[in-house]
Amino acid sequence: MKRLSWYLYGFIFLILPQFLLAQIPDQALSIPPLLEFERSADGKKVFNLTAQEGSMPFFSGQQTATMGFNGNYLGPTIRVRRNDEVSIHVKNSMGESTTVHWHGADVPAEADGGPHQPIPSQSTWTAQFPIRQQAATLWYHPHLMGKTAEHVYNGLAGLFIIDDEISDALPLPREYGVDDIPLILQERRFERDGSFSYRPRMPDLMHGYTGNEILSNGGIEPSVDVKAGIIRLRLLNGSSSTMLRLSFEGGEIMHQIASDGGFLEAPLPFESLILSPGERAEILVDFTQKSRSSRSRRNEVPVLLAQSSGGITRKVLEFRVGRQPGVQNTIPSELRKVERIPREEASQTRRFEMRTRMMGRMVINGKAMSLRRVDEQVKLGDTEIWEVVNGDSGSGMMNQPHNFHIHAVQFQVLSYNGQAPPPEWRGWKDTISLWGGDRVELIARFTSYPGLFMYHCHFLEHEDAGMMGQFEIVE
Ligand code: C2O
Ligand code: CU
Ligand code: CU
Repeated sequence: MKRLSWYLYGFIFLILPQFLLAQIPDQALSIPPLLEFERSADGKKVFNLTAQEGSMPFFSGQQTATMGFNGNYLGPTIRVRRNDEVSIHVKNSMGESTTVHWHGADVPAEADGGPHQPIPSQSTWTAQFPIRQQAATLWYHPHLMGKTAEHVYNGLAGLFIIDDEISDALPLPREYGVDDIPLILQERRFERDGSFSYRPRMPDLMHGYTGNEILSNGGIEPSVDVKAGIIRLRLLNGSSSTMLRLSFEGGEIMHQIASDGGFLEAPLPFESLILSPGERAEILVDFTQKSRSSRSRRNEVPVLLAQSSGGITRKVLEFRVGRQPGVQNTIPSELRKVERIPREEASQTRRFEMRTRMMGRMVINGKAMSLRRVDEQVKLGDTEIWEVVNGDSGSGMMNQPHNFHIHAVQFQVLSYNGQAPPPEWRGWKDTISLWGGDRVELIARFTSYPGLFMYHCHFLEHEDAGMMGQFEIVE
């Protein structure tokens, strides 16, 4: 059934024009730099981000107008440790307002960077918060009411990595950009001249802004040089509304070690992995036998592929494995205990039904997002079950995937369509995907901070079209 709807959905989008693009240069994967910080007198790590307009030649010679943090496209990686106090100054040097939200982070409402914290053009906003959660790969991106999709599309996104004692101690690759490689995947729609611009029409609002290329850290089909060892990839699906199914061309096994909010209990082997927009996964791949010297066939180079919901499979990253062995050459058998939140701990259950209405309006429980309405109130410290249903379960065009993201918490999945969740959903998550008709039960401890937070579909066109609500954590 799942498989069928995937292909059906894919088939519909095969009608999308596939343009013949200018020659793709052979490029090296760009690694977002680690953002440097200063220490304040009281010990905080102080970071500076600037949201700016720029341009990028994605195809040789063709400039496209972009936005980026501290550069033309995407942003640096912010890396912090559990128990750090951080202070991030975000300067908006663009000609319009934006916001910056720390997706997956446990932060006070006023530091969340959602639609209530706009940063007007030419001003600076400061987010301050302690890092209270475990090691994880999070990300940051704008969240301005009605403009989230456009700003992220133009390039405003970056990774936010948290380390702790457990991530330090595990026998995992940890040299950033060398054997611990961040990979932001974004489907983009390039025009004939090699530029892209965000101009959604009605079908794009309903079914997502699909594209004809997948960028890997802003590059097209780049390659990366690695040693013949275990390689760790920190994957983010940074697309607007495209589900990506990742796999290796040669069938190499991926061992998933972390989901959105931290490590799984043990590495999970997969031949393919689906990430919906906003979701992250950390994986290990074993290249110990892939070095040039041990290769039997000369041109066997591991290639990571992504099949988008447009149905087309594209090369996203090529690995050029050298002769030198890696630092880590085995896959650990255990990672970190994931303490289960017992169902009995929940004080209440809420239900959220996502649906597409006429004229591109997208709603949750019949309502489109309004900044002036608080949809749910949750008591600080309570544990709740949120039952989420994708009500778009008709046939054909109405069989519409969505996903559901909750701010302020990392949740666990109690059930998926009445059954135990699949193993990749048994760790901490903040975004969960739902095919048409799917129903999940999520459980979370709302021990964050009092104030207003969002829940929404992370298909960014859907979010901007109203598929979002507000909950208030009250004392
Ligand atoms: Cu990634 Cu409400 O966002
Ligand atoms: Cu978020
Ligand atoms: Cu949606």
